[in-house]
Amino acid sequence: MNGEDSFINNIWPIGGGKGGSGKTFLTGSLGLLLARQGLRTLLIDADLGAANLHTVIGVAHPGRSLSDFVNKKVETLEDAVTKTPVPNLYFISGAGDNLDMANLVHTQKMRLLRAISKLPYEHILLDLGAGTSFNTIDFFLISNTGIFITTPEPTSIENVYRLIRSVYLRKIRQVLREEAFRELLQEAVMRSNGSSAKNPEDLLRILKDCDPVQGGLLEESLRDFRFKLVLNQLRKQDNHQIGTLICRICEKHLGLRVHFLGNILHDDRVHDAVCRKVSFLEKYPYTQTATDLREFCHRFLTDREENPPVGPSIEKTKAEILMTANC
Ligand SMILES: Nc1ncnc2c1ncn2[C@@H]1O[C@H](COP(=O)(O)OP(=O)(O)OP(=O)(O)O)[C@@H](O)[C@H]1O
Ligand SMILES: [Mg+2]
Repeated sequence: MNGEDSFINNIWPIGGGKGGSGKTFLTGSLGLLLARQGLRTLLIDADLGAANLHTVIGVAHPGRSLSDFVNKKVETLEDAVTKTPVPNLYFISGAGDNLDMANLVHTQKMRLLRAISKLPYEHILLDLGAGTSFNTIDFFLISNTGIFITTPEPTSIENVYRLIRSVYLRKIRQVLREEAFRELLQEAVMRSNGSSAKNPEDLLRILKDCDPVQGGLLEESLRDFRFKLVLNQLRKQDNHQIGTLICRICEKHLGLRVHFLGNILHDDRVHDAVCRKVSFLEKYPYTQTATDLREFCHRFLTDREENPPVGPSIEKTKAEILMTANC
């Protein structure tokens, strides 16, 4: 493994299908907990157009931002990094941007992904925007890792499942290239008597049937995914098993293993901390929610040791994303 690959392994996109599920809160909290353990951690606010991570981590006026790099106002992405008041915690802001992630042109996006993959930090957490846009999904594909977040509400669960499924389908498309992907879809339609069903697991089965070599390759790349799930804003009366159930559904219907990293209790004092622009973990360390966050961080680190991420080569990923750029 070369140096570049080892950095790719440390990138953790944090996404959820629905706005307001707690991506930014979780990114800030996990960043703080990792940094407190002496791990050099970089947070990137990739929710361009709606960036607000700086407020959660107490950086009032971030000097540089991601768009300075995209617009070539700074030479390297490292030049856009801001120090935070917390030792070991660094930050690239997305604030003040008139840039929208969804509107990044392909070359800008590739340059950004490539630059992120080279940054020398022990952990890089990316706070993503809500939804399943192509650019959001690219972050999951470049790192093969990701933390998905949902609340217990059915709408949020539906959206996070849709996001996981979109990442999975996009991976199939990326590995197969466009033409082969289209042929596979046609075959799937034929086998399902004309219905347009494209359950990713069915696609994989059909591919293994028609082309065992390609099917095996695809199965192998899907095995490289290291996806985690966290359930945020759980209330005492909610079913505490929802997270485990979602992971089971992903395994059953997508054939994809997603590791559940725990529940984080809803606490009105999160709102209070955000309004006061102070860290929830520092202001309310003795709450159940703070304990949940610490346990989540602990599981994140131990799970990472037990299942180390397998990063793709950036060159390979670049080529693969290029192939699917216009899909
Ligand atoms: N565990 C929690 N308990 C109570 N409130 C929470 C919790 N987590 C997040 N919140 C609150 O939920 C709201 C949304 O959180 P956050 O901004 O982190 O979500 P988001 O997923 O980043 O949203 P967006 O998609 O708009 O960027 C905020 O007001 C935050 O204070
Ligand atoms: Mg956010």
